[in-house]
Amino acid sequence: MASIVAGTGRATPDMVISNQDLERWMDTSDEWIAARTGIRRRHLLRSGESLCRIAADASRKALERAGLTADSLDAIVVGTVSSEYAFPSFACQLQNLLGVNSIPAFDVAAACSGFVYALAVADFALRAGSFNRVLVVGADALSTMVDWTDRSTAVLFGDGAGAAVIASEPGPRGILASLLRSSGELWELLTLRATGVRSPLDAEVRRASDDALKMRGPELFKIAVRSMEAVTREVVERAGVSLGQINLIVPHQANLRIINAVSERLGLKPENVYVNIDRYGNTSAASVPIALDEAIEAGRINRDDLVLLIACGGGLTWGASLIRW
Ligand code: ACO
Repeated sequence: MASIVAGTGRATPDMVISNQDLERWMDTSDEWIAARTGIRRRHLLRSGESLCRIAADASRKALERAGLTADSLDAIVVGTVSSEYAFPSFACQLQNLLGVNSIPAFDVAAACSGFVYALAVADFALRAGSFNRVLVVGADALSTMVDWTDRSTAVLFGDGAGAAVIASEPGPRGILASLLRSSGELWELLTLRATGVRSPLDAEVRRASDDALKMRGPELFKIAVRSMEAVTREVVERAGVSLGQINLIVPHQANLRIINAVSERLGLKPENVYVNIDRYGNTSAASVPIALDEAIEAGRINRDDLVLLIACGGGLTWGASLIRW
């Protein structure tokens, strides 16, 4: 049995903030942001808006595309660092919104690698025969956690959620190999001291800078490129295929220059790499499933294609899944 992706969905807040909007709030420019990161706009949560409801919308779409109802699920796994509460977990709150009880629901905290981690955990459980159908979600709202006076981080992030229903199926399709890696010694490169999100743009609830997301960008940049290249080579080898056989890579969208550097090192053509960072910014754990759902909708993925998901994030964490579609 293998774990196939039976359906995907995505959802984002309605509010769109462009680089030009940011120019009015801080000392930055559309030129700098677009040239250094590839980002042109992003979706941000409004004050009081619930990320969990957005994740529920993405989940319902994924279930609909899979032709399944929530009560057929065996588990819910959410990759997130944006739960409104330390407990109940994001997954339990999502479970409540989906109206499906009794099945296990839990979060996986791996920052921007959250979806890739959650997907691998779901795959391992399916392979072990513990579950047959799992809802895997990536959802984050890092815009609520940045210091809005720090232009070096505030311009980078957007909010949203993506979901995939994973199901056991006999045959050659499905997840061929997954690899997860972490390096705790690099924890200080990207940190967030406090958790719990709500009301991103209200001045009175903006985080004090000590509690906000902190990032050593240039160091992280180099490590992100090296680790995503390495994990790609490793997972491809483990699956017994070659890089040239991959039809589409769906990478975490942190910075267009990171994506281009990884693609160049791997000798990939632009048409084999999915990019949407211009419209979303870095949506952390939501980035890979949002991009995956868009790529499917755009007809960039066909049956039997080899699709590679890769991510790198705080922890540091990184990982990859290679899927025969
Ligand atoms: N607008 C205008 N100027 C800016 C801005 C801004 N928003 N931010 C920084 N600058 C300035 C800096 O002050 C600096 O000015 P100086 O030279 O006068 O001191 C200059 O631009 C260059 O700053 P750098 O930090 O060296 O810029 P760099 O080219 O490295 O880009 C960036 C910064 C975009 C953060 C890059 O380092 C990066 O993308 N790093 C990796 C980030 C990443 O991958 N994060 C996430 C991975 S994990 C996860 O997704 C959570």
